[in-house]
Amino acid sequence: MAAAEKIIIFDTTLRDGEQSPGASMTKDEKIRIAKQLERMRVDVIEAGFAAASEGDFESIKAISGIVKDSIVCSLSRANERDIARAAEALAPAERKRIHTFIATSPLHMEKKLRMTPDQVFEQAKQAVRFARQFTDDVEFSPEDGSRSDMDFLCRILEAVIAEGATTINFADTVGYGVPELYGNMLKNLRERIPNSDQAIWSVHCHNDLGMAVANSLAGVMIGGARQIECTINGLGERAGNTALEEVVMALRTRKDYFNFEVGIDATQIVPASKLVSQITGFAVQPNKAIVGANAFAHASGIHQDGVLKARDTYEIMRAEDVGLSANKIVLGKLSGRNAFKQRLDDLGISLNSEAEVNAAFARFKELADRKSDIFDEDIISLVSDEQQSHEKECYRFVALSQHSETGERPVAQVVFSIDGKETRCEGQGNGPVDATVNAIESITHSGAELLLFSVNAITTGTQAQGEVTMRLAKAGRIVNGMGADPDIVVASAKAYLSALNKLQSKSEKLNPQL
Ligand code: KIV
Ligand code: ZN
Repeated sequence: MAAAEKIIIFDTTLRDGEQSPGASMTKDEKIRIAKQLERMRVDVIEAGFAAASEGDFESIKAISGIVKDSIVCSLSRANERDIARAAEALAPAERKRIHTFIATSPLHMEKKLRMTPDQVFEQAKQAVRFARQFTDDVEFSPEDGSRSDMDFLCRILEAVIAEGATTINFADTVGYGVPELYGNMLKNLRERIPNSDQAIWSVHCHNDLGMAVANSLAGVMIGGARQIECTINGLGERAGNTALEEVVMALRTRKDYFNFEVGIDATQIVPASKLVSQITGFAVQPNKAIVGANAFAHASGIHQDGVLKARDTYEIMRAEDVGLSANKIVLGKLSGRNAFKQRLDDLGISLNSEAEVNAAFARFKELADRKSDIFDEDIISLVSDEQQSHEKECYRFVALSQHSETGERPVAQVVFSIDGKETRCEGQGNGPVDATVNAIESITHSGAELLLFSVNAITTGTQAQGEVTMRLAKAGRIVNGMGADPDIVVASAKAYLSALNKLQSKSEKLNPQL
């Protein structure tokens, strides 16, 4: 077998992933995810879209100053203002990439951009030429590439490579591709474009028809792509993007067929999945490949029996290979500060100061008083909560008491602070959560629409903490709030207040597809 070539893993959780409605993240949250991506040895981290908002700009800048091993990338439309902004945000990075794009399909050019193909051609060339003034690592994407005319694609891609684009990313923007066709389009492009060997070819697939991973792998095997763009948990617009964990584990587990190397430390996959789900509020479905709660669980007697006799009867990967620690009890009430700190290190969590470690440890002690076994998942959630409380927030949960009885209408009394000033309120509702939300609304009058309310047990057992996600919509904005507590009504109050805090933050951002 020929020596294995490397597939570059380009993660866009912080950019395309963040475009999922409600998945917006704060700067600190993005930094935590970027650190985890670096720990996982992702080759390129697309940290955001610098011109989209002040918040995106600041996040990319901060990540550029922190990440050392991965290339840090910013998206930019194909214009000088966007590109200059990307270059400014990336300035502190040791290794940086500017990723510029413009739509190339007849539909997008005519209806969205209102530009002729010749204008798009000129703008793409100028954008790449301009981006090369800031870095010699420039990626170009023909947006809606898979619905574009092949002759036009050949013309524009040859020109941008001649201008210095070092990566060409063939975007299946609307998830229209079919593996064989998508792979063959890429193959044709590479064969027809005379200077195609001067660029690395990349795949970027959306999952509208559930084929993003298959299309990406076809792009590699048929089309000759050597970079895959993907996100943790497949997060992304609409049905999401290619899931990083799925392509990476497919390439590793079926190396006999694919014969490629990937530089990813797969044991960091589950921690990354949990972190992203925890921060964005997008729960992972239990039967999700690789990172779902059931991915390594065997329920049927025949399977259990087989696995006990010989593991590989029903398992093609080992849970520990992807970093699944099977709800290990890690700490308890008697654990000291050093043991707690050590566990944070093992989980790859670095807090900013000793004061933050002390505050997190105090929360841990509080939780350990109410819950005898503390799992890794509890610690991850507790630290997230702690870090959230450092961000400027208007509303903070203080206390709650609630009464419900069969045949009676539940009542909740909630205490929370508004800009540091404590307030009390009472509400009734169809159930305890409804009563709690009504109580909070009697003071905040947000009028937001609740789009989603979900409760997940963080670990197993009835003493597990409930993790609640509340998705709110108001004036065209959608946000997710999260809260965790052994009492799910308290967790709901925290989640509701956290969503209201996000609605308060004024940051507006552009969508790159605009
Ligand atoms: O899906 C898409 O076309 C994109 C581009 C900006 C690369 O995300
Ligand atoms: Zn995309």
